[in-house]
Amino acid sequence: MADYRKMNRSELEAEKAALERSYAAYKAKGLKLNMARGKPGPHQMDLAMELLKMEDYTAADGTDARNYGNLEGLYEARALFAEVMGTRPEEIFVGGNSSLQLMYNLMAIGYMFGFQDSPKPWSQVEHRKFLCPVPGYDRHFRITEELGFEMINVPMSETGPDMDMIERLAAEDDTIKGIWCVPQYSNPDGYVYSDETIRRFAAMKTAAPDFKIFWDEAYIVHHLTSEIIETPVLLEESKAFGNEDRVFMFTSTSKITFPGAGISALACSENSLKYVCSRFSPMIISYDKMNQLRHVRFLKDKAGVLRHMAKHRRRLVPCFDAVKCTFAHEFGPCGDIAHWTNPKGGYFISLYVMPGCAKRVAQLCSECGLQLTGAGASFPYGKDPEDSHLRIAPTYPSLPEVEEASYLLTICVRLAVVEKLLAEQQ
Ligand SMILES: Cc1ncc(COP(=O)(O)O)c(C=O)c1O
Repeated sequence: MADYRKMNRSELEAEKAALERSYAAYKAKGLKLNMARGKPGPHQMDLAMELLKMEDYTAADGTDARNYGNLEGLYEARALFAEVMGTRPEEIFVGGNSSLQLMYNLMAIGYMFGFQDSPKPWSQVEHRKFLCPVPGYDRHFRITEELGFEMINVPMSETGPDMDMIERLAAEDDTIKGIWCVPQYSNPDGYVYSDETIRRFAAMKTAAPDFKIFWDEAYIVHHLTSEIIETPVLLEESKAFGNEDRVFMFTSTSKITFPGAGISALACSENSLKYVCSRFSPMIISYDKMNQLRHVRFLKDKAGVLRHMAKHRRRLVPCFDAVKCTFAHEFGPCGDIAHWTNPKGGYFISLYVMPGCAKRVAQLCSECGLQLTGAGASFPYGKDPEDSHLRIAPTYPSLPEVEEASYLLTICVRLAVVEKLLAEQQ
């Protein structure tokens, strides 16, 4: 192997033929590998099975968790999330199994009724817009797309999204109603917003009085190193500027205990919480408090959550290492054809391949039995302007599967790049 960009036509053709032979050998194996969705593996969920062994459903204050009531959640569940998210229990609403559903419901409230600070419902705002740091979480973007928002891409860096751009746009345009953020171990890059970025979010001026920051802390305790990274709490920081009603923070236990059978939380100002509850109350009497109690008794407190996450880490670190080592080993000698992130937490690695190649890589992988998230999925409307980004999810497959999938992926990337370089030379 040598630097692809320095190869002449006949060298590239020889490399292509060699890669095609390796690719054909993989194809003949009839593989079925999947690095598409960020799901925990079965061993991770096994770690939480004890949680289900519970028979007493009386909460600390005597509440019978089996019955209706406590729309905001049991106090002890609110206290647990408050400790994890760095807020007060009175600022926490505990939802059902999905934080994404809480986000959707809040967007729907904005759309149907507006918030307490809205001049009118978002549905009545012509050319309504939402800021979308990219690459980001595809399911966030699907919500704003469905509700007819024009989505504006904001470039990400290792310290968070481009704050100059966000401050400028938010200050000048009152049809921009909010922004999606994954501030800790961002999906998919694994970046952590810097303290300065968080403070600028807390302080910034917005033309829309009802601008909302959807601050998705899905990976707040999902550390992949022994470093427990903690950042300023946006809700708290915003209070100094009187901007606390702007903030909706979310998290869930989907990747702590069970996806689809955990509990979720919204953290916001008490003022916003009152409004949200008044809008939720026609929709639901109370969420699953039995599950709230099971989670509190199993996880206990923030220290208990971190102890449990350390068990996840033991399984996940080798899978992330396998991907990064394979990339370094296989791409290194080929020159500048790809770069990737080195997350300290979260569920993903971003792989950036030579622009114009990502779709072709995903196609080659899929034809060989390796499912990746569709190229472009991490961008609004599924459109990566550079056709360069691939989101790698190493958590679900077993370690040998991750190793095989990573190696196959490097062959597909190298083949797609060689094809492109050959096409450019024509
Ligand atoms: C950033 C982010 N937010 C939310 C979710 C979904 O969370 P929940 O299961 O609580 O709906 C995911 C799942 O992958 C995610 O990556």
